[in-house]
Amino acid sequence: MKILMASSEAVPFAKTGGLADMVSALSIALAKEGHDVRIVLPRYYRVNRDMLTRLEGALGVPVGGGEEWSAVYTTFLPGSPPENPVPVYFIDHENFFGRDGIYGVPQEPDFLDNPRRFTFFSKAVFQVCRKIRWYPDVVHAHDWPSALVPVFLKYGEARDSFGNAHSLLTIHNLGYQGIYSKDNFHYTGLNWDVFYNAGFDDWNMMNLLKAGLITADKINTVSPGYARETRQASQGFRLDGVLRYRSKDYTGILNGIDTEVWNPAIDRYIPEPYSAQNIQGKAKAKEALQREFSLPGDPNIPVIGMVTRLTGQKGVGELFGPTFGSAWSICRDMNLQFVLLGTGEEWCENEIRNLSYRLSNFKARIGYSEELSHLIEAGSDFFLMPSRYEPCGLNQMYSLAYGTLPIVRNTGGLADTVENFDQNTGGGTGFIFDDLTPQAIYNTAGWAVWAYYNRREQVEAMRVRGMRQDFSWKKSARQYIALYRELTGL
Ligand code: ADP
Ligand code: GLC
Repeated sequence: MKILMASSEAVPFAKTGGLADMVSALSIALAKEGHDVRIVLPRYYRVNRDMLTRLEGALGVPVGGGEEWSAVYTTFLPGSPPENPVPVYFIDHENFFGRDGIYGVPQEPDFLDNPRRFTFFSKAVFQVCRKIRWYPDVVHAHDWPSALVPVFLKYGEARDSFGNAHSLLTIHNLGYQGIYSKDNFHYTGLNWDVFYNAGFDDWNMMNLLKAGLITADKINTVSPGYARETRQASQGFRLDGVLRYRSKDYTGILNGIDTEVWNPAIDRYIPEPYSAQNIQGKAKAKEALQREFSLPGDPNIPVIGMVTRLTGQKGVGELFGPTFGSAWSICRDMNLQFVLLGTGEEWCENEIRNLSYRLSNFKARIGYSEELSHLIEAGSDFFLMPSRYEPCGLNQMYSLAYGTLPIVRNTGGLADTVENFDQNTGGGTGFIFDDLTPQAIYNTAGWAVWAYYNRREQVEAMRVRGMRQDFSWKKSARQYIALYRELTGL
């Protein structure tokens, strides 16, 4: 099948979170199954043009009655199979993408012209296909930034060469919907009746994700658990009604992990390779991690790690909230070491800095580091993810693959991938709690630490059990292929 991925992020070119990992890893897995996959991305300022090849000629993109001109650059996706490489096409437009930031910058987290930038991008996706004379069977869009792609397909493009194309829209995070003033609607060039028919209308505003969810031929999200939860008002971010309405076309497919990148047997960022058969190298990683964070190099003290965006979704309010957060009491009361890598909301970064001044067993690095994230996954004993909601979550799967036991909240993809410790049988792969409260996080961290000191054998057996699980993309990619086949009848 010919599959077009329209996305605002894909590693290694542009990433703010797991979306970027997912788009590239899925594309690679589909290519390995022999499909013709191509990705279209904006050419953000940080993507170096010198590494790309420019396609000849310009690209005219009709937006809002006028036309915008841009260039198209291309390269192959690193890591895609040499016998069937995945081309990536970059839309180059100085005005829209020639600046720092993907969706925004700290001073302006959501660029004012985002509706215009991503309307342009979604429209450009079709023009690229025309330019290269390649017409997909499936158009696969992701989250609000490309949610207009299925809308354009249905209301306008689905004729001529795009006549056989069907659309899938994947929800990676319902918390971001692209809600803007409807003054921006005219950029789409669509008629006002489409505003209502396609479902843009949202209390007198324009909601891009909602339009995509109503219009796409099929929709899905990144875990079965989140697909169930989002049908309910409590987790539906006001779109639960839409998702119930689309129920028969709405499924959950668990993400996989890229096992070429996240695999302790071949990881170049850790001191010594290890595996379920021979886990000794994990102790070396712990040693290196303790050294990296200037912690005492004690092999017999449990280390809890975290790598995260510092934002409410990730439960950081309950963990680091100034007066009630549980991280402080966890580190004060328990004999453990706590390491964190993350960036995000300013209040949270400040609280974390505060904690690291006051506690000798709490160490943090505010920033983004691919390398350090691998060392934390490998060197920690436990990995904490107290998410408020989690569509899939990749880090808990990385943790399992590295023999690091996840401590997670019972939600979304976390609940789908981690099995709770049973201290009677020794079963399970991690530690799970239900309520998002500082107390519940404290208690569950305490339970994990207790198990570390008192049930060491069970803990070691859990590590190996987690490492033996298969989270590779192969299985999930086949589920996507089945969905594409349902869509296209191919
Ligand atoms: P989300 O996409 O909601 O942030 P995921 O768990 O799906 O959550 O994916 C997060 C991805 O971003 C993981 O690959 C994780 O390692 C990475 N990540 C997040 N923060 C950092 C950071 N500060 N440094 C390095 N990697 C990070
Ligand atoms: C989003 C979600 C995360 C998911 C990722 C990739 O960023 O927050 O849970 O793993 O997308 O699908």
